Amino acid sequence: MKKEKILVTAALPYANGRIHLGHIAGAYLPADIFVRYHRSKGNDIVFICGSDEHGVPITITADKEGVTPKVIIDRFHNDNKSAFERLGMSFDIYSRTSIPEHHETAKEFFLNFYERGILKEKKSSQFFDEKANMFLPDRYVEGTCPKCGNEGARSDECENCGALYDPSELKSPISKISGNKPILKETSHWYFPLGDYQDRLQQYVKEHDEKFDWKENVLQYCKGWFHDGLTDRAVTRDLDWGIPVPTDDGKGKVLYVWFEAVLGYVSATKVLSEQRNQPDLWKEYWQEEDTRYIAFIGKDNVVFHCIVFPSMLMAWNDANKKHYILPENVPANEFLNFEGKKFSKSRNWGIDVIDFLDRFPADSLRYALTSNLPEDRDSDFKWNEFQARNNNELADILGNFINRTLTFVFKHFEGKVPPLYELSDADNELLNLLEKSPSLIGSYIEKYEMKKALLEMMNIAREANKYFDKSEPWKSVKTDKERCATTLNICLQTIFTVSELFTPIIPFTSEKIFQILNAKPVSWDNAGKINLQEGHELNKPEILFRKIEDEVIQKMVQGLGQPLDMPAAEPEELISFDEFLKVKLVTARILEAQKVPKSDKLLQLKVDTGNGVRQIIAGIGKHFAPESLIGKQVLVVGNLKPAKLMGLESQGMILALEDENGALSLLDIKETIKPGTRAK
Ligand code: 2FM
Ligand code: ZN
Repeated sequence: MKKEKILVTAALPYANGRIHLGHIAGAYLPADIFVRYHRSKGNDIVFICGSDEHGVPITITADKEGVTPKVIIDRFHNDNKSAFERLGMSFDIYSRTSIPEHHETAKEFFLNFYERGILKEKKSSQFFDEKANMFLPDRYVEGTCPKCGNEGARSDECENCGALYDPSELKSPISKISGNKPILKETSHWYFPLGDYQDRLQQYVKEHDEKFDWKENVLQYCKGWFHDGLTDRAVTRDLDWGIPVPTDDGKGKVLYVWFEAVLGYVSATKVLSEQRNQPDLWKEYWQEEDTRYIAFIGKDNVVFHCIVFPSMLMAWNDANKKHYILPENVPANEFLNFEGKKFSKSRNWGIDVIDFLDRFPADSLRYALTSNLPEDRDSDFKWNEFQARNNNELADILGNFINRTLTFVFKHFEGKVPPLYELSDADNELLNLLEKSPSLIGSYIEKYEMKKALLEMMNIAREANKYFDKSEPWKSVKTDKERCATTLNICLQTIFTVSELFTPIIPFTSEKIFQILNAKPVSWDNAGKINLQEGHELNKPEILFRKIEDEVIQKMVQGLGQPLDMPAAEPEELISFDEFLKVKLVTARILEAQKVPKSDKLLQLKVDTGNGVRQIIAGIGKHFAPESLIGKQVLVVGNLKPAKLMGLESQGMILALEDENGALSLLDIKETIKPGTRAK
């Protein structure tokens, strides 16, 4: 089959704060799932993202901190780049809009439109702060919305009701710089005539919906805009942070952030081409008719990706030989809330990706978010649901199936893939499920229905557990080794399939499973076949998913609405099974006990360890009267190097349990267990 050429972009997050779970559920996770799927299909796909580094919020943050905007964008560009990497976002490039390559691309578009007379210069009244001696665009002014009365409305736009208005209509305006009432002062700006493109845009949305089945929420937003009628939009601003307007009459002004940010996708692809030493590569993705372009975003970005950006590309294409392709689809998700409310940094409501990943594994987050994506309507992240997804699904269903299969194969088949003999109905049923799953799951991913895709993936693991239970290999291993071999062979094939099909959701775990299988992924379409040959050697299993304890989740819930100052749990240092086995834990009966003279802590014990009597000097004198210990059977470390305590040799160590108040209790081992019995 011919390889598809696909360009995928994910909204460029502002380098003005850390990305949080809401951002991930909106655009990035669905995009990454889509991309990983297509890579596994063998398609030629590039995945583009980067930081959006201009715009007023960045300068406001910089002003507040008393630093330059550059300090802010460097900080958050690096934070977000690393957060994305840790979360397994497989961008081909994570670029940024402050780089010269981007400035050049944006200027090229502006100049092209300017020279062709597309942009209209218009005078208008804008807010001006007399104290700070500067114009106050966008968010530098706050006031009351003339339409809905929202008190946090911006100079010409209300986030609450979506209204756009003239600054002179805003009620009770206040400058965010000085706190003074700003005046209205005349300035001139260039406007892009969005209205001139309305008919073509409507046509574009209609045709693409018919062909590619756009999401209902996206269509509704577009319809709203078309219904209100598109009007001229200013593409310059009176600011000093941004891309300078590249004309003599534009001195002191910069390009409006949205005009250039969307072009960040193009400039990032150009940088990627340079990195790959193929300077013209970007044209293959942006300017070849048969390339598919999918733009993943959150719902707040719909107008810019379905209306503003396409109209800019149309304007370019009208007069240039090389045409840019327009998005085939813009699968915008709705919002993810956090424990019932909107994410809010100022109210400490929510958690950013870095803080999350300092505490929990990336795949657990990817899995939990995928199962709860706001695909059609807003959804809600809840800590206890996250715990349940991790513990009851990843660990108990998927992890359990993989673990029980591999443990069995190591116990009874020397860690090698057993042969496949005659197939039963149950065998065929599971094999059929494997065979049909790649296309079924793929069809959901292609429709951007990631939740349904995940349900089908998990369904394989559920069915596989049922198959294991019904096949009872622990019985057939004694009565019918061929049957048992066949069962385990099929279970191993299932692990292979599951691992490959789960890659888009839990890529880190899939990689681990492939290491255990001692195999490499084949390709999406072949993932449901028999991929492991008889006799193939496997690697020892390891725990794939750790359960998350109730206390850990309770702490997260208790901390809601407060700054996250809890230190992240230290990652536990893990030891291998072999390392554990080095410690010989054995039962021992206490034969004699007496206080060590001049010590109130130490007791001198004689214990029977099954193969002789030993002396142990134990620091438990404050907790137990010596005579109360005689006859008790306890657990001791039998192979500890001898040590001298107060001149007496100690040949082992007694295990005791210490509670939070420091009280000790011994493990009380039943009489009937012989001294010298090993615990493992
Ligand atoms: O909403 C945002 O975070 C914007 N920075 C998205 C920009 S997407 C693209 F145009 F760059
Ligand atoms: Zn409003």
